[in-house]
Amino acid sequence: MLAVGIVGATGYAGAELVRILAGHPQVDLRILTSRQYAGQAFSDIYPAFQGLTELVCQPYDSQRISAETDLVFTALPHQIPMSIVPGLLANGLRVIDLSADYRFENAADYEAHYEPHQNPELLTKAVYGLSEVYRDSIKSAQLIGNPGCYPTSVLLPLVPLLKAGLIDGRLLIADAKSGVSGAGRTPSLVTHFCEVHESFKAYKVADHRHNPEMDAILSKAADRPLHISFVPHLVPMSRGMLTTIYTQPQPSVTAAQIDECLQAYFDPCPFVRLLGWDRFPSTRAVRGTNYCDIGYRLDPRGKHLILIAAIDNLVKGAAGQAVQNMNLMMGWDESMGLDAPPFPL
Ligand SMILES: NC(=O)c1ccc[n+]([C@@H]2O[C@H](COP(=O)([O-])OP(=O)(O)OC[C@H]3O[C@@H](n4cnc5c(N)ncnc54)[C@H](OP(=O)(O)O)[C@@H]3O)[C@@H](O)[C@H]2O)c1
Repeated sequence: MLAVGIVGATGYAGAELVRILAGHPQVDLRILTSRQYAGQAFSDIYPAFQGLTELVCQPYDSQRISAETDLVFTALPHQIPMSIVPGLLANGLRVIDLSADYRFENAADYEAHYEPHQNPELLTKAVYGLSEVYRDSIKSAQLIGNPGCYPTSVLLPLVPLLKAGLIDGRLLIADAKSGVSGAGRTPSLVTHFCEVHESFKAYKVADHRHNPEMDAILSKAADRPLHISFVPHLVPMSRGMLTTIYTQPQPSVTAAQIDECLQAYFDPCPFVRLLGWDRFPSTRAVRGTNYCDIGYRLDPRGKHLILIAAIDNLVKGAAGQAVQNMNLMMGWDESMGLDAPPFPL
Protein backbone atom coordinates (compact mmCIF):
# COMPACT_ATOMS: atom_id res chain seq x y z
CA MET A 1 0.00 0.00 0.00
CA LEU A 2 1.12 3.54 -0.76
CA ALA A 3 1.15 5.86 2.26
CA VAL A 4 -0.39 9.17 1.23
CA GLY A 5 -0.80 12.60 2.82
CA ILE A 6 -2.99 15.54 1.81
CA VAL A 7 -1.82 19.02 2.72
CA GLY A 8 -4.82 21.36 2.74
CA ALA A 9 -7.29 18.50 3.15
CA THR A 10 -10.21 20.59 4.34
CA GLY A 11 -10.53 22.74 1.20
CA TYR A 12 -12.84 21.64 -1.59
CA ALA A 13 -10.09 20.05 -3.69
CA GLY A 14 -8.57 18.41 -0.59
CA ALA A 15 -11.92 17.01 0.54
CA GLU A 16 -12.48 15.62 -2.95
CA LEU A 17 -9.09 13.91 -2.69
CA VAL A 18 -10.18 12.36 0.61
CA ARG A 19 -13.38 11.11 -1.04
CA ILE A 20 -11.56 9.48 -3.95
CA LEU A 21 -8.61 8.13 -1.97
CA ALA A 22 -10.89 6.65 0.72
CA GLY A 23 -12.00 4.19 -1.97
CA HIS A 24 -8.62 3.62 -3.62
CA PRO A 25 -7.52 -0.01 -3.21
CA GLN A 26 -3.76 0.74 -3.15
CA VAL A 27 -3.75 3.83 -0.93
CA ASP A 28 -3.37 4.09 2.81
CA LEU A 29 -4.46 7.63 3.62
CA ARG A 30 -2.31 8.58 6.62
CA ILE A 31 -2.15 12.34 7.10
CA LEU A 32 -4.61 15.17 6.52
CA THR A 33 -3.40 18.67 7.33
CA SER A 34 -5.25 21.87 8.13
CA ARG A 35 -4.43 24.97 10.16
CA GLN A 36 -7.98 26.02 11.06
CA TYR A 37 -9.21 22.51 11.91
CA ALA A 38 -6.09 20.98 13.47
CA GLY A 39 -7.17 18.51 16.16
CA GLN A 40 -10.65 17.99 14.67
CA ALA A 41 -11.89 14.81 13.07
CA PHE A 42 -12.23 15.19 9.30
CA SER A 43 -15.73 13.70 9.59
CA ASP A 44 -16.73 16.54 11.93
CA ILE A 45 -15.82 19.05 9.24
CA TYR A 46 -17.43 17.06 6.43
CA PRO A 47 -20.21 14.94 8.04
CA ALA A 48 -20.59 12.96 4.82
CA PHE A 49 -17.48 11.08 5.95
CA GLN A 50 -19.02 9.82 9.24
CA GLY A 51 -17.96 6.19 9.63
CA LEU A 52 -15.71 6.32 6.56
CA THR A 53 -12.55 7.84 8.02
CA GLU A 54 -11.29 8.32 11.55
CA LEU A 55 -8.49 10.62 10.51
CA VAL A 56 -7.98 13.74 12.58
CA CYS A 57 -6.61 16.88 10.92
CA GLN A 58 -3.19 17.95 12.06
CA PRO A 59 -0.96 20.95 11.49
CA TYR A 60 1.57 20.64 8.70
CA ASP A 61 4.81 19.05 9.96
CA SER A 62 7.35 18.29 7.25
CA GLN A 63 9.28 15.77 9.39
CA ARG A 64 6.18 13.81 10.24
CA ILE A 65 4.73 13.80 6.74
CA SER A 66 8.12 12.76 5.32
CA ALA A 67 8.47 9.95 7.84
CA GLU A 68 4.94 8.61 7.45
CA THR A 69 4.09 9.01 3.76
CA ASP A 70 5.50 8.22 0.31
CA LEU A 71 3.39 10.61 -1.75
CA VAL A 72 1.81 13.95 -0.89
CA PHE A 73 -0.95 15.94 -2.57
CA THR A 74 -0.70 19.67 -1.90
CA ALA A 75 -4.15 21.25 -2.25
CA LEU A 76 -3.25 24.75 -1.08
CA PRO A 77 -3.57 28.27 -2.44
CA HIS A 78 -0.78 29.11 -4.87
CA GLN A 79 2.44 30.44 -3.36
CA ILE A 80 2.16 28.17 -0.28
CA PRO A 81 3.19 24.90 -2.02
CA MET A 82 6.46 26.40 -3.26
CA SER A 83 7.52 26.94 0.34
CA ILE A 84 7.07 23.27 1.32
CA VAL A 85 7.51 21.21 -1.85
CA PRO A 86 11.34 21.43 -2.08
CA GLY A 87 11.66 19.91 1.41
CA LEU A 88 9.29 17.06 0.57
CA LEU A 89 11.17 16.28 -2.65
CA ALA A 90 14.51 16.38 -0.82
CA ASN A 91 13.14 13.77 1.59
CA GLY A 92 12.39 11.50 -1.38
CA LEU A 93 8.61 11.95 -1.53
CA ARG A 94 6.59 12.23 -4.69
CA VAL A 95 4.45 15.36 -4.82
CA ILE A 96 1.34 16.24 -6.82
CA ASP A 97 0.61 19.93 -6.44
CA LEU A 98 -2.88 21.15 -7.32
CA SER A 99 -1.97 24.84 -7.31
CA ALA A 100 -0.41 26.85 -10.14
CA ASP A 101 3.05 26.84 -8.55
CA TYR A 102 4.52 24.10 -10.77
CA ARG A 103 2.38 24.37 -13.91
CA PHE A 104 4.67 26.66 -15.88
CA GLU A 105 7.94 25.69 -17.50
CA ASN A 106 9.56 29.05 -16.99
CA ALA A 107 9.46 31.31 -13.99
CA ALA A 108 8.84 34.51 -15.99
CA ASP A 109 5.46 33.20 -17.20
CA TYR A 110 4.45 32.26 -13.66
CA GLU A 111 5.72 35.50 -12.17
CA ALA A 112 3.92 37.63 -14.78
CA HIS A 113 0.58 36.36 -13.47
CA TYR A 114 1.24 35.14 -9.92
CA GLU A 115 4.14 35.85 -7.51
CA PRO A 116 7.93 35.71 -7.50
CA HIS A 117 8.86 32.02 -7.61
CA GLN A 118 10.95 30.72 -4.72
CA ASN A 119 12.34 27.66 -6.52
CA PRO A 120 12.30 28.25 -10.27
CA GLU A 121 14.84 25.46 -10.73
CA LEU A 122 12.05 22.97 -9.97
CA LEU A 123 9.90 24.19 -12.88
CA THR A 124 11.87 22.20 -15.43
CA LYS A 125 11.75 19.13 -13.17
CA ALA A 126 7.97 19.35 -12.71
CA VAL A 127 5.70 17.67 -15.27
CA TYR A 128 2.42 19.30 -16.31
CA GLY A 129 -0.19 16.80 -15.21
CA LEU A 130 -2.62 16.83 -18.12
CA SER A 131 -2.80 13.04 -17.97
CA GLU A 132 -3.94 12.28 -21.52
CA VAL A 133 -1.29 14.50 -23.09
CA TYR A 134 1.78 14.03 -20.89
CA ARG A 135 1.18 10.44 -19.79
CA ASP A 136 4.71 9.23 -20.56
CA SER A 137 6.51 12.01 -18.69
CA ILE A 138 4.10 11.73 -15.75
CA LYS A 139 5.06 8.08 -15.28
CA SER A 140 8.61 8.96 -14.30
CA ALA A 141 7.98 12.31 -12.57
CA GLN A 142 8.66 13.07 -8.92
CA LEU A 143 6.75 16.37 -9.05
CA ILE A 144 3.49 17.06 -10.90
CA GLY A 145 1.98 20.49 -11.52
CA ASN A 146 -1.65 19.44 -11.76
CA PRO A 147 -3.55 21.52 -14.35
CA GLY A 148 -6.17 24.13 -13.59
CA CYS A 149 -9.80 23.16 -14.11
CA TYR A 150 -10.47 25.63 -16.95
CA PRO A 151 -7.27 24.64 -18.79
CA THR A 152 -8.20 20.94 -18.56
CA SER A 153 -11.53 21.59 -20.29
CA VAL A 154 -9.96 23.82 -22.96
CA LEU A 155 -6.82 21.82 -23.68
CA LEU A 156 -8.21 18.31 -24.00
CA PRO A 157 -10.35 19.05 -27.10
CA LEU A 158 -7.76 21.33 -28.74
CA VAL A 159 -4.37 19.69 -28.20
CA PRO A 160 -4.93 16.67 -30.52
CA LEU A 161 -6.24 18.89 -33.34
CA LEU A 162 -3.36 21.36 -33.01
CA LYS A 163 -0.79 18.57 -32.87
CA ALA A 164 -2.23 17.13 -36.07
CA GLY A 165 -2.28 20.56 -37.76
CA LEU A 166 -6.01 20.31 -38.45
CA ILE A 167 -7.08 23.65 -37.01
CA ASP A 168 -6.03 27.17 -37.73
CA GLY A 169 -4.68 28.52 -34.45
CA ARG A 170 -5.49 32.10 -35.47
CA LEU A 171 -9.08 31.70 -34.29
CA LEU A 172 -9.24 30.33 -30.77
CA ILE A 173 -12.02 31.41 -28.42
CA ALA A 174 -13.16 29.65 -25.25
CA ASP A 175 -16.30 30.49 -23.35
CA ALA A 176 -16.40 28.57 -20.09
CA LYS A 177 -18.83 28.23 -17.19
CA SER A 178 -17.87 27.00 -13.75
CA GLY A 179 -19.72 25.97 -10.63
CA VAL A 180 -18.97 28.03 -7.53
CA SER A 181 -16.74 25.43 -5.83
CA GLY A 182 -14.10 26.48 -8.36
CA ALA A 183 -13.47 29.47 -6.12
CA GLY A 184 -12.65 27.32 -3.08
CA ARG A 185 -14.28 27.04 0.34
CA THR A 186 -13.33 30.36 1.89
CA PRO A 187 -16.47 32.50 1.94
CA SER A 188 -16.45 35.74 -0.04
CA LEU A 189 -18.92 38.26 -1.39
CA VAL A 190 -18.47 36.89 -4.92
CA THR A 191 -19.47 33.39 -3.84
CA HIS A 192 -22.17 34.46 -1.37
CA PHE A 193 -25.45 32.57 -2.03
CA CYS A 194 -27.43 35.76 -2.71
CA GLU A 195 -24.81 36.96 -5.19
CA VAL A 196 -24.71 33.76 -7.28
CA HIS A 197 -28.16 32.22 -6.89
CA GLU A 198 -30.42 32.70 -9.94
CA SER A 199 -27.75 34.72 -11.69
CA PHE A 200 -25.07 34.07 -14.27
CA LYS A 201 -22.16 36.35 -15.02
CA ALA A 202 -18.84 36.65 -16.79
CA TYR A 203 -15.79 37.60 -14.74
CA LYS A 204 -12.10 38.27 -15.40
CA VAL A 205 -12.93 38.60 -19.10
CA ALA A 206 -9.72 38.00 -21.10
CA ASP A 207 -7.89 38.49 -17.81
CA HIS A 208 -7.99 35.13 -16.02
CA ARG A 209 -4.81 33.58 -14.62
CA HIS A 210 -5.58 30.30 -16.34
CA ASN A 211 -5.25 31.99 -19.75
CA PRO A 212 -1.42 31.98 -19.84
CA GLU A 213 -1.43 28.34 -18.71
CA MET A 214 -3.66 27.47 -21.69
CA ASP A 215 -1.56 29.56 -24.07
CA ALA A 216 1.65 27.82 -22.99
CA ILE A 217 0.30 24.31 -23.62
CA LEU A 218 -1.55 25.23 -26.84
CA SER A 219 1.65 26.84 -28.18
CA LYS A 220 3.60 23.72 -27.31
CA ALA A 221 1.07 21.52 -29.11
CA ALA A 222 1.11 23.71 -32.24
CA ASP A 223 4.85 24.37 -32.03
CA ARG A 224 4.27 28.11 -32.49
CA PRO A 225 3.05 30.90 -30.20
CA LEU A 226 -0.74 30.86 -29.81
CA HIS A 227 -3.23 32.77 -27.74
CA ILE A 228 -6.78 31.81 -26.87
CA SER A 229 -9.39 34.44 -25.98
CA PHE A 230 -10.87 33.13 -22.78
CA VAL A 231 -14.05 34.24 -21.00
CA PRO A 232 -14.97 32.47 -17.74
CA HIS A 233 -18.45 32.60 -16.21
CA LEU A 234 -19.78 31.75 -12.78
CA VAL A 235 -22.98 29.69 -12.80
CA PRO A 236 -25.25 28.98 -9.82
CA MET A 237 -24.35 25.35 -9.21
CA SER A 238 -21.89 23.92 -6.73
CA ARG A 239 -19.75 21.88 -9.15
CA GLY A 240 -19.29 21.30 -12.86
CA MET A 241 -17.72 23.07 -15.80
CA LEU A 242 -18.89 23.44 -19.39
CA THR A 243 -16.57 24.97 -21.98
CA THR A 244 -17.46 25.94 -25.54
CA ILE A 245 -14.56 26.49 -27.91
CA TYR A 246 -14.77 28.22 -31.28
CA THR A 247 -12.04 27.58 -33.82
CA GLN A 248 -11.53 27.12 -37.54
CA PRO A 249 -10.31 24.02 -39.38
CA GLN A 250 -7.59 24.43 -42.02
CA PRO A 251 -9.34 25.02 -45.40
CA SER A 252 -8.97 21.49 -46.82
CA VAL A 253 -9.77 19.64 -43.58
CA THR A 254 -12.90 17.45 -43.57
CA ALA A 255 -15.24 16.50 -40.76
CA ALA A 256 -14.06 12.90 -41.11
CA GLN A 257 -10.45 13.95 -40.47
CA ILE A 258 -11.46 15.79 -37.29
CA ASP A 259 -13.39 12.78 -36.08
CA GLU A 260 -10.57 10.35 -36.88
CA CYS A 261 -7.98 12.55 -35.18
CA LEU A 262 -9.95 12.84 -31.93
CA GLN A 263 -10.91 9.18 -31.92
CA ALA A 264 -7.36 8.00 -32.52
CA TYR A 265 -5.89 10.35 -29.90
CA PHE A 266 -8.38 9.46 -27.18
CA ASP A 267 -8.79 5.78 -27.99
CA PRO A 268 -6.44 4.71 -25.16
CA CYS A 269 -7.90 7.27 -22.73
CA PRO A 270 -10.52 5.85 -20.37
CA PHE A 271 -11.71 9.25 -19.12
CA VAL A 272 -12.35 11.07 -22.38
CA ARG A 273 -15.72 10.24 -23.91
CA LEU A 274 -16.25 11.53 -27.42
CA LEU A 275 -19.90 12.21 -28.09
CA GLY A 276 -19.40 12.93 -31.80
CA TRP A 277 -21.19 15.48 -33.97
CA ASP A 278 -24.77 15.28 -32.72
CA ARG A 279 -24.63 14.83 -28.97
CA PHE A 280 -23.45 17.50 -26.61
CA PRO A 281 -22.07 17.17 -23.11
CA SER A 282 -23.68 18.22 -19.85
CA THR A 283 -22.20 18.78 -16.42
CA ARG A 284 -24.74 16.35 -14.97
CA ALA A 285 -23.34 13.43 -16.95
CA VAL A 286 -19.84 13.92 -15.51
CA ARG A 287 -20.76 15.03 -11.98
CA GLY A 288 -18.54 13.36 -9.40
CA THR A 289 -16.55 11.54 -12.11
CA ASN A 290 -13.19 11.91 -13.78
CA TYR A 291 -14.72 12.02 -17.26
CA CYS A 292 -14.25 14.75 -19.80
CA ASP A 293 -17.11 14.51 -22.31
CA ILE A 294 -16.53 16.19 -25.65
CA GLY A 295 -19.06 16.93 -28.43
CA TYR A 296 -18.39 18.88 -31.62
CA ARG A 297 -20.08 20.43 -34.60
CA LEU A 298 -19.07 22.17 -37.83
CA ASP A 299 -21.00 25.33 -38.51
CA PRO A 300 -21.39 24.93 -42.30
CA ARG A 301 -21.97 28.62 -43.01
CA GLY A 302 -19.28 30.16 -40.84
CA LYS A 303 -16.94 27.16 -41.35
CA HIS A 304 -16.28 27.24 -37.63
CA LEU A 305 -15.57 24.14 -35.60
CA ILE A 306 -17.34 24.26 -32.25
CA LEU A 307 -16.06 21.94 -29.53
CA ILE A 308 -17.89 21.55 -26.22
CA ALA A 309 -16.33 19.90 -23.18
CA ALA A 310 -17.81 19.09 -19.78
CA ILE A 311 -15.88 18.12 -16.66
CA ASP A 312 -16.43 18.16 -12.93
CA ASN A 313 -14.09 20.96 -11.83
CA LEU A 314 -13.30 19.16 -8.58
CA VAL A 315 -12.63 15.77 -10.18
CA LYS A 316 -11.12 15.84 -13.70
CA GLY A 317 -10.41 19.52 -13.03
CA ALA A 318 -8.56 18.84 -9.75
CA ALA A 319 -8.58 15.81 -7.42
CA GLY A 320 -9.54 13.11 -9.94
CA GLN A 321 -6.87 14.08 -12.43
CA ALA A 322 -4.38 14.26 -9.52
CA VAL A 323 -5.26 10.66 -8.56
CA GLN A 324 -5.07 9.63 -12.22
CA ASN A 325 -1.55 11.09 -12.23
CA MET A 326 -0.66 9.24 -9.04
CA ASN A 327 -1.82 6.00 -10.70
CA LEU A 328 0.39 6.72 -13.71
CA MET A 329 3.39 7.57 -11.49
CA MET A 330 2.93 4.30 -9.59
CA GLY A 331 2.56 2.19 -12.75
CA TRP A 332 -1.02 1.25 -11.83
CA ASP A 333 -4.08 1.17 -14.03
CA GLU A 334 -4.88 4.87 -14.50
CA SER A 335 -8.55 4.31 -13.63
CA MET A 336 -7.84 2.74 -10.25
CA GLY A 337 -10.06 4.30 -7.58
CA LEU A 338 -11.71 6.48 -10.22
CA ASP A 339 -14.11 4.04 -11.81
CA ALA A 340 -17.29 4.67 -9.78
CA PRO A 341 -20.24 5.05 -12.19
CA PRO A 342 -21.76 8.54 -12.59
CA PHE A 343 -25.11 9.61 -11.16
CA PRO A 344 -27.85 9.37 -13.81
CA LEU A 345 -29.60 12.42 -12.34
N1 LIG B 1 -11.69 24.30 -6.45
C1 LIG B 1 -11.41 23.87 -7.66
O1 LIG B 1 -12.30 23.59 -8.47
C2 LIG B 1 -9.96 23.70 -8.08
C3 LIG B 1 -9.70 23.14 -9.33
C4 LIG B 1 -8.37 22.99 -9.75
C5 LIG B 1 -7.35 23.41 -8.93
N2 LIG B 1 -7.63 23.97 -7.72
C6 LIG B 1 -6.50 24.42 -6.90
O2 LIG B 1 -6.40 23.61 -5.74
C7 LIG B 1 -5.90 24.39 -4.65
C8 LIG B 1 -6.91 24.29 -3.51
O3 LIG B 1 -8.13 24.84 -3.98
P1 LIG B 1 -9.49 24.73 -3.15
O4 LIG B 1 -10.56 25.13 -4.07
O5 LIG B 1 -9.55 23.41 -2.45
O6 LIG B 1 -9.25 25.88 -2.06
P2 LIG B 1 -9.90 26.03 -0.62
O7 LIG B 1 -11.22 25.36 -0.58
O8 LIG B 1 -9.81 27.47 -0.30
O9 LIG B 1 -8.89 25.22 0.33
C9 LIG B 1 -7.58 25.63 0.58
C10 LIG B 1 -6.91 24.72 1.62
O10 LIG B 1 -5.62 25.24 1.92
C11 LIG B 1 -5.50 25.51 3.32
N3 LIG B 1 -4.81 26.81 3.43
C12 LIG B 1 -5.31 28.01 3.08
N4 LIG B 1 -4.40 28.98 3.27
C13 LIG B 1 -3.30 28.37 3.74
C14 LIG B 1 -2.01 28.82 4.12
N5 LIG B 1 -1.68 30.11 4.06
N6 LIG B 1 -1.12 27.90 4.55
C15 LIG B 1 -1.45 26.62 4.63
N7 LIG B 1 -2.67 26.13 4.29
C16 LIG B 1 -3.56 27.00 3.82
C17 LIG B 1 -6.92 25.55 3.86
O11 LIG B 1 -7.02 24.99 5.15
P3 LIG B 1 -6.58 25.73 6.48
O12 LIG B 1 -6.92 27.19 6.28
O13 LIG B 1 -7.35 25.07 7.57
O14 LIG B 1 -5.12 25.47 6.59
C18 LIG B 1 -7.65 24.61 2.93
O15 LIG B 1 -7.53 23.27 3.37
C19 LIG B 1 -5.74 25.82 -5.19
O16 LIG B 1 -4.41 26.05 -5.54
C20 LIG B 1 -6.64 25.84 -6.41
O17 LIG B 1 -6.24 26.77 -7.37
C21 LIG B 1 -8.92 24.11 -7.27
